[in-house]
Amino acid sequence: MKWRVVQDQHELARTAAKMLLDALDEDPQIVLGLPTGGTPAGMYAQTVGECRVARHCFELATTFNLDEYVGIARDDPASYCSYMRTHLFDHVDIAPERIHVPDGLATSVRQQHPALSLDEALELECVKYEEAIQRAGSLQLTFLGIGRNGHIGFNEPGTPFDSRTRVVQLAESTRKANARYFPGREVPTRAITMGIGTILDSAAIILLASGEGKAEAIRRLSHDEPHPDFPASALLRHHDVTVIVDQAAAKFR
Ligand code: PGA
Repeated sequence: MKWRVVQDQHELARTAAKMLLDALDEDPQIVLGLPTGGTPAGMYAQTVGECRVARHCFELATTFNLDEYVGIARDDPASYCSYMRTHLFDHVDIAPERIHVPDGLATSVRQQHPALSLDEALELECVKYEEAIQRAGSLQLTFLGIGRNGHIGFNEPGTPFDSRTRVVQLAESTRKANARYFPGREVPTRAITMGIGTILDSAAIILLASGEGKAEAIRRLSHDEPHPDFPASALLRHHDVTVIVDQAAAKFR
């Protein structure tokens, strides 16, 4: 695991965006795993700014998002699909057919198989998502955030390291942390997430953490042995992980 400690969230955004843009430069047809949340927002803003100048950054790239809430429509402002459009996809030259975000309503699966219940359709949505990643030739570079409880994607504590894309129950602490994105509404209780095994298949991984709220999780990541109680510790088993943290998140390292 390689560590880079940067000054603050602005330097984190610039550093991560440069790594993303360098990877796109090196292989314009790269297959990316992409996160949502507060942490990567600066990376996306920086990337969009650079791509306005360079123009063809994402022309041939393929993206797979890590996760999506169950029961939330793609065009709901709180969906991760909307997040990605707002922060990245609407501003760069990515081909819509090469964008992949799990559908928390499994809409096209249910259209194709009207007899399936929602849960059966969601299960099939997950299988198809894994197949689409394989068809694209597997993830080459995946960016991750980290939850205070160590979750990566929505793989909460207790998730087996060989898990694949599936529907999961969100931890109460995660729902609380994300309540700010659902003003006046309940945070969904379930999500579709890539599994830890899916993430570990990525050739390279970059984990981002910013702010004091992540300091304890970063301490555990630097000191603990791999254990499913702390999902991010699975990354210790991967040969190409870079962790970029700002000084506040690196406080207890
Ligand atoms: P955050 O979420 O970037 O909004 O803190 C990270 C995560 O929960 O993975």
